[in-house]
Amino acid sequence: MTSAASPIQISKQQLDHINDKLKYLSPEEILKWAFITFPHLYQTTAFGLTGLVTIDMISKMFPESSEHPIDLIFIDTLHHFPQTYDLVQAVKEKYNSKIHEFKPLNVQDDIGFSKKYGEQLWETDDSYYDFLVKVEPSQRAYKQLGVLAVLTGRRKSQGGARGSLPVVEVEETSGTIKINPLCNWDFKQVKNYIDENKVPYNALLDLGYKSIGDWHSTVPVAEGEDERSGRWKGQAKTECGIHETSKFAHYLKQQNEANDHVSIATETKVEAKVPGPYIHRITSFPALNGQRTLKWNEKVRNLHDKYGPIVILSPSEVSVSGDHQFINDIYVKNFPKSTFYANFTNHGGKDNMFASLENDRHLKYKKLVLSLYSKSSIFSNKNPTRDTIVEKVGYLRDNVYESSVTGKRPDYINAKSEFNQHGKGHTDNGKWFNKSGRIANLGIDVYPLFGSLAMDVVSSFELGPENGTDLLLFPEKRDIIISHRLQASMSFWTTLMPRFWVWAATPAILKASETIEKWHLKLYQRAEENVPKFEAGRNLTTLETFKKNGLKGEYAYSFLTDNIFAGHETTAIQLTYMTYELSRPKHHYLQKLLQEELFRTFGKPRDKNDLIKDLEIVDKLPILEAIFQENSRVHPSIPGAEPRVTNRPYAVTLKSGGKVVLPPGIIISTLPYLMHRVESVFPESETFKPERWLPYEYENDADYEKRISYQQKYMMPFGKGVRMCLGMQLALIEMKLAVANLYWHFNSKIDQDWCKLTQYDDSSKIANPIKMGDSAIGANESDEEKMAMVDTYTTRPYNDECWLQWYEN
Ligand code: HEM
Repeated sequence: MTSAASPIQISKQQLDHINDKLKYLSPEEILKWAFITFPHLYQTTAFGLTGLVTIDMISKMFPESSEHPIDLIFIDTLHHFPQTYDLVQAVKEKYNSKIHEFKPLNVQDDIGFSKKYGEQLWETDDSYYDFLVKVEPSQRAYKQLGVLAVLTGRRKSQGGARGSLPVVEVEETSGTIKINPLCNWDFKQVKNYIDENKVPYNALLDLGYKSIGDWHSTVPVAEGEDERSGRWKGQAKTECGIHETSKFAHYLKQQNEANDHVSIATETKVEAKVPGPYIHRITSFPALNGQRTLKWNEKVRNLHDKYGPIVILSPSEVSVSGDHQFINDIYVKNFPKSTFYANFTNHGGKDNMFASLENDRHLKYKKLVLSLYSKSSIFSNKNPTRDTIVEKVGYLRDNVYESSVTGKRPDYINAKSEFNQHGKGHTDNGKWFNKSGRIANLGIDVYPLFGSLAMDVVSSFELGPENGTDLLLFPEKRDIIISHRLQASMSFWTTLMPRFWVWAATPAILKASETIEKWHLKLYQRAEENVPKFEAGRNLTTLETFKKNGLKGEYAYSFLTDNIFAGHETTAIQLTYMTYELSRPKHHYLQKLLQEELFRTFGKPRDKNDLIKDLEIVDKLPILEAIFQENSRVHPSIPGAEPRVTNRPYAVTLKSGGKVVLPPGIIISTLPYLMHRVESVFPESETFKPERWLPYEYENDADYEKRISYQQKYMMPFGKGVRMCLGMQLALIEMKLAVANLYWHFNSKIDQDWCKLTQYDDSSKIANPIKMGDSAIGANESDEEKMAMVDTYTTRPYNDECWLQWYEN
C-alpha cells in the first residue's frame, strides 16, 4: 500500500483495520496513538480552527514540556491574509512551538512571485499556481525534514471532497502517513473547544469566514453554507492540491509531456523555435498587462514586424499573421475557441453561442437559429424585419434633422454634459457643444445615436417588433446606451480577470452593470408576456425559437443578452467610423461620390420625410459597398485577437524558412487589425481608400474579381468560418440603409467646436492614418487623435464620442 520509498509499510488490510479501531477513539486518544506509533511525526497546518485545536490538545497532553512536542509545518503561499500571519506569530508565542515555514521556491514575497510567474497566476493557471505555492513547497518540506507521518486538520463535516475522510490515510505517491485526528468533529465542536480553551484564532473568523486560505480565493460564507464553500467560490474546485497529490502527479506528467512537445517544437532545432521575447515563454504577465494597459494589439503588431509570421505571446500561446492561409487554417477549419470566450456567459454563468467552447455544443445552438439570421430571411417580405429596419432608419433621419440640421430638438445626450466628460467646451446651459452659438447645423454625438438605432433594431429582431426598444423615439431613455458603454470599458476585467472586475470597477460602473442586468431581464420578461401575433409564413423570433427548443428563462436570455450586447455596440462603432471618415475634409469627395450614386439610383428625395426602402438595391450599390468594405478594413469593430486552441499538430513556416510544429493545446490567434493591413495586399494600408474595392481604370472584369476575391481572403471584420458573426446580414443591411438615407438627405462635417481638423498633407494628399492605441494620441486634439481606435478586443473611438454637424443637401 505504501510506496517503496517509505520505510513504513502498511497494507490495505492493515489500514482498514487501523481505521476501524481508531474511529471509536477521541481526538486526544488518536493523537496519543499517533505520537507513540510514528517516528518523524509533524503537524502540517495553515492555522485553521481544527489545526489550532490539535496544537492546543497536544500542548495539554504534555503540560510539563517547555517546548511544544510536535513541530509544525506551515506552507507560506505568500498570499495569506495579514490576519493569518498575525496568528502564526501568536501561536508561536503561546505554545513555544517550532514552526518550519516553507515558501515557493526561490521567491521571498508576493511581488517577487508575480514578477517570476506573472500577475494573478491563480486566475490564468490555477493548477500551476497550486503546484508552485502549495504542492512543491510541501513536498520539499517533507523531504528536507524527513517527514514520515503528518497530522492534518481535515474533517468530514467540512463537506466537499472530505465527506468520507478516514482517520488515517496513506498518500499514494510518497507513502506519507496522514492522520486526521479531528475527522469526526463538526464545526460547532471545534468552535466550542476554541472558545472554552481560549485558543487564539484567526481574526477573520469573526467576520464570517470559516475556512481561510489565500486572500484571493477565500470569501466569507453565509449561514447554513458548507464550511469550505467560501474557498474558490464559484469554481468546481474544493481542494488546493496539497491533499491531492495523485492529481498533481498527473498534472506534472501532463506538464512534462507538454514541455516535451514544446521543446521538440521550439528548442531542439534553432529554426524550430517560436520566436519572440524570452519573457513571453515563461510567463503570461506581459500579455495580461499589455491588455490591461490597452497596448497589446499594437505590441503584437510590433512583434510580428520584428520576428515574422509567428510570435510567442505567453507560454503555450502564439500569434500568427501575414498570410491568409492562417485565417483559413484557424477559423475556416475551425480550431475550437479558447477559454477567453467562457467569460462571455450572462445572467450568472449561463452559456450562449458566443461563449460556448466546444464545437459540437456550439453547432447545436447555431443550427437552432441560423436560418433566422440568413439574408433571405431578413430580406423576406413575410418577416417584419425589413419593415422594422426601414422604420427605425426613418427615426434616425428625423433625429439628425431635428437635433442637428434645424437644431429644434437638441439631442438628449448632447444636452447632458455629464455624458460628455471628454468635451472641452462650455458646460453651462448644457450647451457646451455649441461654442459658436449656431442655431442650426448643431454638432451631435453620433456614437450614442447609432447605438440607439442598433439597439432598437436588434432588440426588435430578437423579441419581435412590439417588444423592441424605442430609444430613437424617446431620447430620454438613451441612458441605457451610456450604461452599456460604461460596462464595456471594463472589458479587460470582465473577460480576463472576471473575479476581480468588481474590485476594479468604479461605483458608477457597478451601478451601470446592475442597471443593465435589470433592464435586460425586464425587456425579456415583457416579451414573454407579449408574444407577437403569429402569421403564416412568419419566422419565430429568436426568443420564441429558443423557448420552443427547450431553453427557458435565463438560459434563453443569455443568448439574447449576448446578441444585444454584441450587436448594438459593434454596429454603432462601424457606423460612427463610417460617418466620421466621410466627414473628414479630405473625404468630402467621397460623400459627393456616394450622393451622386444615390441620386442616380433613387432620384432626389421629394421631401424631408422621403425614405429609401429598397433593401435589395441598397445592398448592391458599388460605391456604398466600397466605403463599407474599406471602413471595416481600417476600423474593424473587433480588431483584437480571436483566440482558438490547436486540436492537432499544426506546422507554421518561420521568417527564416524553417518550420515549427505546434502541438495540440496551443492557443493561437491572428489579429484582424493586422490582417487588414498586410501591405502587399492593401498598398498604403493605413490610408482609407474605398477606391481599392472598385475596378481600377485599366482593369478588366476578370482581373477585378480576382483582386477583390484575394483581398477578401485577408478580411475578417465579422470573423470567419463556423464561428463567424451570426448577426452579420442584419447588421450589414441596417448600416447600409442608414448611411444611404443619411447621405441622400444630408451631408456631414466634423464639428469644429469639438476638435481641430487634420489638414491635407499637400505633398502626398494623404493625411495621417488613424492608428490604434496610445501612440496615436498626441497633444493637439485633432480629429484623428480623438477618433484613434482604443487598443482592445472590441474597439471604440478613443474619446467615446464623435461630434458631427449635419446640413441638408
Ligand atoms: C457591425 C456589426 C457587427 C460586427 C462587426 C460583428 C463582429 C463579429 C465578430 C468579429 C465575431 C467573431 C468574434 C470571435 O470569434 O472572436 C462575431 C461573432 C458573433 N456575433 Fe457579431 N458582429 C456584429 C453584429 C452582430 C449582431 C447584430 C449580432 C446579433 C444579432 C451579432 C451576434 C454575434 C454572435 C452570436 C457571434 C458568435 C457567433 C458564433 O460563435 O457562432 N453580431 N461578431
